[in-house]
Parts: sequence; structure tokens; C-alpha cells
Amino acid sequence: MKTPVRVAVTGAAGQIGYSLLFRIASGAMLGEDQPVILQLLEITPALKALQGVVMELKDCAFPLLAGITTSDDPMVAFKDADYALLVGALPRKAGMERSDLLSANGGIFKPQGHALSEVASRNVKVLVVGNPANTNALIALSNAPKLKPAQFHAMVRLDHNRAISQLAEKTGKPVTAIKKMTIWGNHSTTQFPDLYHAEVEGKNAHALVNDHEWYEKTFIPTVAKRGAAIIEARGLSSAASAANAAIDHMRSWALGTPEGDWTSMAFPSDGSYGVPEGLVFGYPVTVRNGQVEMVKGLDINEFSRAKIDATAKELEEERQAVRQLGLVK
Ligand code: NAD
Ligand code: LMR
Repeated sequence: MKTPVRVAVTGAAGQIGYSLLFRIASGAMLGEDQPVILQLLEITPALKALQGVVMELKDCAFPLLAGITTSDDPMVAFKDADYALLVGALPRKAGMERSDLLSANGGIFKPQGHALSEVASRNVKVLVVGNPANTNALIALSNAPKLKPAQFHAMVRLDHNRAISQLAEKTGKPVTAIKKMTIWGNHSTTQFPDLYHAEVEGKNAHALVNDHEWYEKTFIPTVAKRGAAIIEARGLSSAASAANAAIDHMRSWALGTPEGDWTSMAFPSDGSYGVPEGLVFGYPVTVRNGQVEMVKGLDINEFSRAKIDATAKELEEERQAVRQLGLVK
């Protein structure tokens, strides 16, 4: 058995937390030979509810769960954390865009970025799930001068999984037949789910579907607006699928991506694919030994160029907005 690693989770008493913590403790995230210590952060009024979740975690008698701590202080919850999943934030309600949460949630990520910078493991891997995820990750990394910006990711894996599932339904193939899906840009309605490089049983997905109208008018909006559709149907934002995507993202980051495939992760742009430097942008990536490598050199056609530019423009506007709020320099 390996030495336990420390996994910090914020918003641990919330909806996503209720699904996420049990999967982490079961070994689904880091592997069935990796013990974990959960370090759970909540706001003070939610600490009582969190105690109930802790009781349930204990009642599962997970063999890999080597300890649990709870706190309302990020400096305590992030101490020596090897992984940090920043979930704690308000979810949107029907009729809101995720960017409407910027001023409400942005303020959470400045002190959390600072605390991670001060007390987390120097190799901490941070995944921001709380919306608007990309720009919250930008706020956190901008306030974490002692860590590298690339240690901060935002989650576009839920969009990635949604895109795979929609394409599998359309083509009548299993999800396992689909490789090289990419979500470019923001976890928002401007995101660009790319079928030009995706493959179904090794064949180009866009060519195989051979229906650009479906791609543009049905597939892209269905994936990009899925969060709102779930809020409309459930009265609450997605939770189990979001937790599952967070598990998938961290598992890929820690344990790598399979040969012949890639995944989508949002992290600070180095200017590749014409995206302004520093924006936390969804890209295709491979991961080996914990090292994330952007897939470079893909052909970007006119349609894709316009989509990538539109989502970059939205992220640039969000960056300006949080600069004005004093959350980013
Ligand atoms: P929720 O309201 O059920 O839970 C959020 C929890 O965060 C609450 O328990 C709250 O007390 C806690 N919290 C609030 N401020 C905090 C702080 N400063 N520190 C620690 N904890 C804090 O919400 P949820 O459904 O679990 O969703 C959480 C976030 O995840 C929302 O912003 C939602 O929009 C987002 N989300 C993102 C994706 C994605 O794909 N990126 C998917 C689904 C949901
Ligand atoms: C989602 O995509 O389901 C989440 O980001 C929740 C939301 O507000 O859409």
C-alpha cells in the first residue's frame, strides 16, 4: 500500500460533495492502492451538516480512507494538500448564466488561492469546479504567487463527457468507441465541442456523422446548454455527473490518459491556438507521469476558428470583469 495522500475538498457538505467524497474515498479517483486523507472545508453554518456527511463516510468503512478532518478555515483545510477540489460556491438558478455568479463566487477564490499558496504541498494539483469555473481558477492562481499557474485547472470534463455521450447516441456506437473529443474554451454556452478531430472507431467523427446542420444546430447547443437543461428539469444543478467528471479529471491528471486518446482540461493558455495568454482555457491534452501536455498542431478550420475566438473573447471579458472587482491584477 502507498503512503496516504491529502485531498482537500471545499463545499464538502453541498450536493456535489455528497457524491464526490464517497467516490474519492472508494479509490475511484486515485486508484485502489492509494489511501487518502480527506480535508474538508465548509463555511461555518454548514459544519453541522458536514458532520453528518463525515458520519456517513465513516459508516462506509472504506479501506482506503486513512483520515478525515473538517474546518471552516482554508489555511487548515489546505495544509499539505496534494490535491484540492474547489467545489464550494453558489450554483446558478434557472434563468441565470454561469457568468452571473462572478461577483458572488469570485470573492471565494482569492483567499483560497492565497491559502493554497501558503500551506498546500508545493506539488498540489488544484481543480476548480465552482462556477464560473475557468475565471475562478484564474482568480485562485493569480493569488497564489508561490505555486505555478499550471497547477490550477478548471473543469470542462463534464462537457467532454456530455459530448461523448451525445455523439455515441447519434452514431449508435458505445461511448468507448469515441476518442479524441475536445472541449475548447470556457465552461459556458460559448464552449466549442470539436468533432473535427474526434474519432468514432478510428473514423473522423464529423465526416462520419456527415450532417453539419445537426452538428451546429443540435449537437453543440445540446452540449453547451446541458447544465441549464438539467437545472430546468431537476430544479437543481447537476451534481452526480459533475462529481463524476471531477473524479475523471483528477484521475487523468494523476494516473494519465490512455494511448491513442486525449481528454479536455482547462488551464492557463500559453498563447497556443491564438488564445490570449493567461486565460484558463479548455484544450485537448495528454497526461504522462502527472505531466499535462497540450495536443499541438491540430488543423483549425474557419468554423472552429470563429468558435475558439468567441469563447476566448468571453473569457477575456470575464478577466476584465474580475480585474475591475480587484480579484486579479
Ligand atoms: P451546493 O450549494 O449544493 O453546495 C455548495 C457548498 O459550498 C455549500 O455546502 C456551501 O456551504 C459551500 N460553500 C460556499 N462558500 C464556501 C466557501 N467559501 N468555502 C467552502 N465552502 C463553501 O452547490 P453544488 O451543487 O455542490 O455546486 C457547487 C458549485 O459547482 C456551483 O458553483 C456549481 O455551479 C458548480 N458546478 C460546476 C460544474 C462544472 O462542470 N464545472 C458542474 C456542476 C456544478
Ligand atoms: C453544469 O454544467 O451542469 C454546471 O456548470 C451547472 C450549471 O450552472 O450549468
